[in-house]
Amino acid sequence: MKKLRVGIIGTGGIANAHMRAYQQIPEVEIVGGADIIPGKAREFLDRYELTDAKDFTSAAELLKMDLDAVSVCTYNSTHAECTVAALEAGVHVLCEKPMSITLDEGVAMCRAEKKSGKILTIGFQPRYDENSRHIKELVQSGLLGDVYYVQSGGGRRRGIPGSTFIDKDKAGVGALADIGCYALDFGLNTIGYPKPLTVSAVAYDYFGKNPKYYKESDRFSVDDFSAAFIRLEGGITFDFRMSWAMHMDTCGDFLFLGKDAGLKVSQPHFELWGGAWDGPIGEITLMHDDENGTPTSSKIDIIPQEKSNLFYKKVRSFIDAILNGTEAPVPTSQILYNQAIIDGIIRSSELGREVEIVIPEI
Ligand SMILES: NC(=O)c1ccc[n+]([C@@H]2O[C@H](COP(=O)([O-])OP(=O)(O)OC[C@H]3O[C@@H](n4cnc5c(N)ncnc54)[C@H](O)[C@@H]3O)[C@@H](O)[C@H]2O)c1
Repeated sequence: MKKLRVGIIGTGGIANAHMRAYQQIPEVEIVGGADIIPGKAREFLDRYELTDAKDFTSAAELLKMDLDAVSVCTYNSTHAECTVAALEAGVHVLCEKPMSITLDEGVAMCRAEKKSGKILTIGFQPRYDENSRHIKELVQSGLLGDVYYVQSGGGRRRGIPGSTFIDKDKAGVGALADIGCYALDFGLNTIGYPKPLTVSAVAYDYFGKNPKYYKESDRFSVDDFSAAFIRLEGGITFDFRMSWAMHMDTCGDFLFLGKDAGLKVSQPHFELWGGAWDGPIGEITLMHDDENGTPTSSKIDIIPQEKSNLFYKKVRSFIDAILNGTEAPVPTSQILYNQAIIDGIIRSSELGREVEIVIPEI
């Protein structure tokens, strides 16, 4: 069997999860890695005893190799440049979330994907959570009737990450994109990704900037809490909240309000952002009227998942799409809308007013 030759661009924290997943896939051979920090790619490859794999200090050098695919595991601000370069080199790409920082970067990535004819998929592993999938099936079956309002819940009481996540030059944005992109994806994917039209948002940094709550406050230059009112096509509203830190245990439950019924998705504990990140959903409750017209509620059974292996499933689905010549498992046609909202939240919070979302033709 000829193996797919795969490279990893950006060999920091999350690259390890990609590597562990690729190492479980017999059809893949990791042939190289690149990181702009000298020595980092070599150390990373050696950690997995890949002494024959080549190390580089730029994506461009790695892309001169004969490759089939890459994972882009750089921090957010270099997702676009590395992804576009890889697609231009004729290589399939699995890019980490969030897609990018700005909508313009996301558009450039989509155009490069279209021109190359290669797969570009974005790394949203909660898509593979069985309960999230079940919730989508229920909503898509018409159980709720037309859904007109979605509220994201969860959020961290204390959970500001460190490293490159708090540096505006590298991460671009904070909680609103880092974990907010998951909440947007869970809500939007469940209802079929309607197009976003406008957004009015706020973003705060009261915890990250305060040495009482965060030890690297002098380095903190992104948001730690954000809320947004997003209008979607079809008269649908998305009420978004996301937090890395706040004086509250949760921003609430994830809610889907339909004309015929509502669905409440609660977390097992309050440190999650809504949706699923390799952890279970706590409760799913259907709120509806019984045959006599009396408001009632029913619990939807939770699918037990001993070991969900979401990360492996995301990487495996990328490789399967390459091998089978099928569509990107998490397509950019959807995630560009997610990115457009993030871009809108940034613009609206900076301007202090509602902004329009205009998505160019790809
Ligand atoms: N899916 C998930 O569960 C998950 C979890 C954590 C992080 N992430 C995402 O993964 C990305 C990376 O996060 P991380 O924690 O690994 O960050 P990190 O800072 O540990 O690693 C990023 C690495 O990329 C390198 N890099 C940056 N620009 C580069 C370029 N142009 N070419 C080559 N290397 C470059 C950096 O030097 C660094 O070593 C982020 O976008 C983050 O949102 C996803």
